[in-house]
Amino acid sequence: MQWGMKNRLSRIISPKTGKCVMLAVDHGYFQGPTTGLRELGKTVNPLLPYADALMITRGALRNWIPPETDKPIILRMSGGTSILKELSNEVLTSSVTDAIRINASAITCSVFIGGEHEKETIANLAELVDKGEKYGIPVLAVTAVGKDMARDSRYLGLASRICVEIGAHIIKTYYCDNFKEVVEACGNVPVVIAGGKKIEEKEALQMARDAIDAGAIGVDMGRNIFQSSNPIGMIKAVRAVVHEGKSVDEGFGIYKEKK
Ligand code: 5RP
Repeated sequence: MQWGMKNRLSRIISPKTGKCVMLAVDHGYFQGPTTGLRELGKTVNPLLPYADALMITRGALRNWIPPETDKPIILRMSGGTSILKELSNEVLTSSVTDAIRINASAITCSVFIGGEHEKETIANLAELVDKGEKYGIPVLAVTAVGKDMARDSRYLGLASRICVEIGAHIIKTYYCDNFKEVVEACGNVPVVIAGGKKIEEKEALQMARDAIDAGAIGVDMGRNIFQSSNPIGMIKAVRAVVHEGKSVDEGFGIYKEKK
């Protein structure tokens, strides 16, 4: 792996723990003003000190995040559809030149395996990998799930492995039973989990714990942090579980501390 690629990856995945807590706030690209992100800067900027990286679109970044931030940016580069339409119908919505201009540490797009536009989304990933390899920028592939897709290890293993085969450097997928099988399907490519819809804080911490125990290197979590009634407590708790190996009860104690 080339120096620049390694350097960018080590800004996101802690060389000390081998783990990472990414904060995902890119939901607006298809959901519009998502609960908790209407005033994105007000929600996200206080959380930044506790995140290892921020997953965001270029528009949100330029509007709400101060350029003085030292947080690595994972730039969401696919989109072109909304919750009102077929979600898999994505194109690449930013150029790699713009990713370099904003100093992105990684670039990302969604891949909809089984979706109506599966092939095009795989082609989007392939294009990002080609450009990422050219400029030393790692690519995070999101295994997006369509409305009727089963979120089981067979499906998520299939989707994740395809992203690995296309050349992604990090896989973002959903937690499921037998998650170890999904991680194993990815070989040496690191796996992080999305949080998904807002659930109880203890449940979300349990999911993070179980994912790490099954071999994931971290989370790329959004709603379960920024929609929590105590977002700072929650991100600190997730950090403790991911980086420090804390138990769910210990993490939950941290969450409740400054509520
Ligand atoms: C959408 C995404 C989001 O970043 C992802 O869903 C993470 O956020 P959450 O934890 O809220 O699910 O990749 O495709």
